[in-house]
Amino acid sequence: MCASMRVCVYACVCAGGFLSSPELLDTRAARPFSFSFNTSDYRILLMDQDQGRLYLGSREYLVALDMHNVNKEPLIIHWPASDKRKGECRMTGKGGQGECANFVRMIEPWNRTHLYTCGTGAYQPICTFINRGWKAEDYVFRLVPGFLESGKGKCSYDPFQENIAALINGNLYAGVHVDFMGTDPALFRTMGGRTAVRTEQYDSRWLNEPVFIQIQQIPDSAERNDDKLYFFFREKSLDAGGGSSPSVLARVGRVCLDDEGGQKSLVNRWTSFLKARLICSVIGEDGVETSFDELRDVFIQPTQDERNPVIYALFTTAGSVFKGSAVCVYSMADIRNVFNGPFSHKHGHNYQWTVYTGKIPYPRPGTCPGGTFTPGIRTSKDFSDEAVNFMRAHPLMYHPVYPIHRRPLVVRTGVDYRFTALVVDQVDAVDARYEVLFLGTDRGTVQKVIVLPKDPSTMEELTLEEVEVFRQQLYVSSEAGLTQVSLHRCGVYGRACSDCCLARDPYCAWDGERCTAFTPATKRRSRRQDVKHGDPLRQCRGFNAKETVQFGVEGSSTFLECQSRSPQATVKGILDMRPFLHTESF
Ligand SMILES: *[C@@H]1O[C@H](CO)[C@@H](O)[C@H](O)[C@H]1NC(C)=O
Ligand SMILES: *[C@@H]1O[C@H](CO)[C@@H](O)[C@H](O)[C@H]1NC(C)=O
Repeated sequence: MCASMRVCVYACVCAGGFLSSPELLDTRAARPFSFSFNTSDYRILLMDQDQGRLYLGSREYLVALDMHNVNKEPLIIHWPASDKRKGECRMTGKGGQGECANFVRMIEPWNRTHLYTCGTGAYQPICTFINRGWKAEDYVFRLVPGFLESGKGKCSYDPFQENIAALINGNLYAGVHVDFMGTDPALFRTMGGRTAVRTEQYDSRWLNEPVFIQIQQIPDSAERNDDKLYFFFREKSLDAGGGSSPSVLARVGRVCLDDEGGQKSLVNRWTSFLKARLICSVIGEDGVETSFDELRDVFIQPTQDERNPVIYALFTTAGSVFKGSAVCVYSMADIRNVFNGPFSHKHGHNYQWTVYTGKIPYPRPGTCPGGTFTPGIRTSKDFSDEAVNFMRAHPLMYHPVYPIHRRPLVVRTGVDYRFTALVVDQVDAVDARYEVLFLGTDRGTVQKVIVLPKDPSTMEELTLEEVEVFRQQLYVSSEAGLTQVSLHRCGVYGRACSDCCLARDPYCAWDGERCTAFTPATKRRSRRQDVKHGDPLRQCRGFNAKETVQFGVEGSSTFLECQSRSPQATVKGILDMRPFLHTESF
């Protein structure tokens, strides 16, 4: 069935993909962390590869977990806003939903021994350093005493406004709402001993009520001066209100890391800020296009070429007409082509964006000072007035970025849930490397989805022979708490070879007796696994085949549904959870 489709997406809605809490506990594959202190709003803020630690932030607390030994007591920092500040916060009329507290929103690595962290500080953002010691065995995790600085431009005031941040070479780049009222959104650069640079203030052509999703430095060439910061967000459409254009648009934006702002205009403003629309849509059998515009999450999958990571973006339909979600995948080459293409032009407030066909100044807006294409120009202050003025009025590219194959990788429509979070893991199975998507839903579950390219020639080689997949873990955090989930939950696939094989989970294989975790190092012959075709007749000859499953097809997805076990029945107590997902292998 799958083999006849170009891309076959498989989601096991019952056994492997549906991680409802009681079922997880049953299979001993999940370990919920419970902390004895009074907190909420957990977020996974940083994976510390060097020290094998996971840092969590929540309301008034910072927690460090040892990933190698999860039974070890976590290290905990209590970081509340002062009582005085909480009082002042309540005086302003805030606090009805408990916002007058310090919600930790950022932890970034600073140097070998210290981390930098920011919190909302009861509507007065604050930042400080954390000493984490030289190595995990030091068992150090504490705030630097007596040090506290303003978090303005680094962290939002309102805990309900998302922010993004990246600390690069001592400079903090943050997508935040800069003011108490939450009406001044900006991409801000602070710290590093230079003057702050931001997006133009109150200019809806630059940012129009954005919600920031993800930020990452991605090099454009071997020349470091060309390095750019890419950020992903959604915003209100300027063209909304009339016609068929969507009210919300998904965006990819970028700036040059070393942009110093303009000399005469755009002083302390980016002179390299550009943005483009991300399209993710499907054409139904009736010919009607469903567009997913509400960008929710972005996962940037590194490849061997640091300039070309793969961008996985999770969208839902905007508005409340019906619930739909989709995952689209974008290539950096396509994104760069759009930024190298024509600019959009808008005459006045009542005009739509049209293609700009006039002369484009030199250097072309969006090129970085000191880079490959700007010989002789060392800083953005050397850009011509013409270039800077053009830049200010033309932040939007004309063409949108389309996903790879021009359609989503995963689509869910006609279901009563939406996806909220996305993590991608690469796993080496018997025959190939597979990408496994973990998709958090708004009903507190995580679906595991495997994408199977049909053409084997496009598969990557098996290169990570030594990966210790037994210790791979998925961390799921939410308002309610944190859970660690083993990626190998092969026991849930039943007791027959056919079940194990039909599950087509690259993490699992039939070892002759049961469905167990698969490692590439295991001798191949003894293992029965068929991720690509899921053909139990071929794989399980001689083993007892027992049909407990049935297939269903929806669009390009094939679902495996077990009638015997209803996932809904077991999902309790964790509704309304918004998972933030991270995978880690070590
Ligand atoms: C926990 O903190 C919240 C918010 O500060 C407060 O309303 C609640 O009473 C606290 N609960 C306990 C058990 O202390
Ligand atoms: C790291 O930064 C902190 C804060 O600036 C400083 O106190 C500490 O000495 C630094 N450590 C190293 C190893 O540079």
